[in-house]
Amino acid sequence: MRLQGKSAVVTGGGSGIGRGICLKLAAEGASVLAADINLKAAEETAALVREAGGNAAAMKADVTSSSDTDAMVQAAVDAFGTVDILVNNAGTDVKGAVQEYPEETWDKLMDLNLKGVFLSTKSALKVMLEKKYGRIVNISSMAGKTGEAFTSPYCTTKFGVIGFTQSIALELAADNITANAVCPGAVETDLIKSSVSGTAKLNNRTYEEELYEKFIKFTPLGRIAQPEDVANAVAFLASDEASYITGSTLNVSGGREMH
Ligand SMILES: NC(=O)c1ccc[n+]([C@@H]2O[C@H](COP(=O)([O-])OP(=O)(O)OC[C@H]3O[C@@H](n4cnc5c(N)ncnc54)[C@H](O)[C@@H]3O)[C@@H](O)[C@H]2O)c1
Repeated sequence: MRLQGKSAVVTGGGSGIGRGICLKLAAEGASVLAADINLKAAEETAALVREAGGNAAAMKADVTSSSDTDAMVQAAVDAFGTVDILVNNAGTDVKGAVQEYPEETWDKLMDLNLKGVFLSTKSALKVMLEKKYGRIVNISSMAGKTGEAFTSPYCTTKFGVIGFTQSIALELAADNITANAVCPGAVETDLIKSSVSGTAKLNNRTYEEELYEKFIKFTPLGRIAQPEDVANAVAFLASDEASYITGSTLNVSGGREMH
């Protein structure tokens, strides 16, 4: 178990990739705080971790609020004694043509996908700088490496997450705190499932046919990712096996993104 005795906070830990990360970090021995704006979802994740024999707590936290991110870190300290690992996973995508894109939606994406990463990091650093140890893993995206049509706000935030990661990696290296980003391709979470089901109906295809047309045929490894694929990369970067890796981005895209 690579993370025995470590304490981890996972934002957006209530569903999808965040839930997969909570399960994997706990399976590697970490105590995990699943923090999510949706408390019920976070509690479900914590219950799943405990069912699997791990140690977990849940809390409601909105990463766009600094008082919430401070409380989130304090809750992990109260429950597990410290914070060693922060996974900035909470994020979302709302697609649209740039000329029609609502300003409020743009601001919401910037707040959640970018400012949320900044605020959670700032809160966690209060503990990590003191102990001179930390592993920060930020979930960017393939869309943080290459632009996509009708995805300009999301791409802006995910490119931004990589810039943020590289900058803080430089600032924090002397304090034995690493910061890395993971760039998933398409992952079969509820978000993708409902979008594929929706367009499958419109295109008169089965779910599997639509999944193939939208994602699998563009993916060299020939399948869509599961949350565990991303979680495995996060667990590695959060572990001491990755102690000489900082400021890097790890693609988990089945070969779709290579730079
Ligand atoms: N699913 C994919 O194909 C894919 C691909 C690349 C990158 N990503 C990234 O992975 C991350 C997780 O994506 P997912 O597909 O699991 O999404 P998801 O919608 O299944 O999960 C996101 C979680 O974040 C929570 N959340 C939303 N707003 C929040 C807030 N203000 N504060 C705290 N929690 C909040 C939600 O309640 C939800 O539990 C995101 O950053 C996303 O951009 C996803």
